[in-house]
Amino acid sequence: MSETIEKPPLEHLAIIMDGNGRWAKRRGLPRTAGHQRGVEVVTKVVDECVNRGIRFLSLFAFSSENWGRPRPEIDVLMGLLLQFLASQQQKMLSEGIRLRVIGDSSRLSQPIQDALADAERATAQGQTLTLVLALSYGGRDEIMRAAKRVAQESLAGRLDIDQLDNRSFSRFLDTGDIPEPDLLIRTSGEVRISNFLLWQAAYAELYFTDVLWPDFDAEELQKALDEYLCRKRRFGLTDDQLGCSQEIND
Ligand code: FPP
Repeated sequence: MSETIEKPPLEHLAIIMDGNGRWAKRRGLPRTAGHQRGVEVVTKVVDECVNRGIRFLSLFAFSSENWGRPRPEIDVLMGLLLQFLASQQQKMLSEGIRLRVIGDSSRLSQPIQDALADAERATAQGQTLTLVLALSYGGRDEIMRAAKRVAQESLAGRLDIDQLDNRSFSRFLDTGDIPEPDLLIRTSGEVRISNFLLWQAAYAELYFTDVLWPDFDAEELQKALDEYLCRKRRFGLTDDQLGCSQEIND
């Protein structure tokens, strides 16, 4: 008897966009040229997610550790962020893309904080895709900030610590209203998650590619999504039955 296998929906895709600097260096260009190209790739990947009906896209755009980079590079990244917000806001509104920012925004400059808050407010009703930008973000820092808020609520008598569990704790994270990622992609050949969505990615499928972020495109995204489906669609069947190239381990 043949069984119809439903494709599980991929609701939330998270990406560590890595390799901008190496991409530029290989071409004899300044690192910032890689970041510039990286932003163009961001806009294309957002379009691909909208077209594929993915509901949440989280992008690691600036880590808490990135504050240690040379000031001119930080300034270029912040400038690119402002340009991105200005150039994309109309499209976000017309396509129903909601912007959400996670991370310690208090470390961002006031103009950046204002522009982000404006964009979040303006796009708050978007229903198609939630674009989560992780800025000044570190997973440990996020968990620490959540733990402090939990302690404050408990001290104020508004939270019974004995009632706290995984689900209620996760609401204190920056991603409190966002489902956990199903698939986490990292580009550029590095095989680690570098403090991104530490709590939330506990059960995410991990996908690493050697492709540098500025070279990432629809075809590379499709490869990752195909691999995700193969991993998720096993249901105790064999790779041959599923048409997957990967070996089954479970
Ligand atoms: C990693 O490449 C990438 C970053 C630190 C920044 C990612 C930012 C962008 C793609 C542009 C800004 C995004 C938005 C949404 C406006 P790297 O510099 O660490 O590259 P390397 O490892 O090759 O040096």
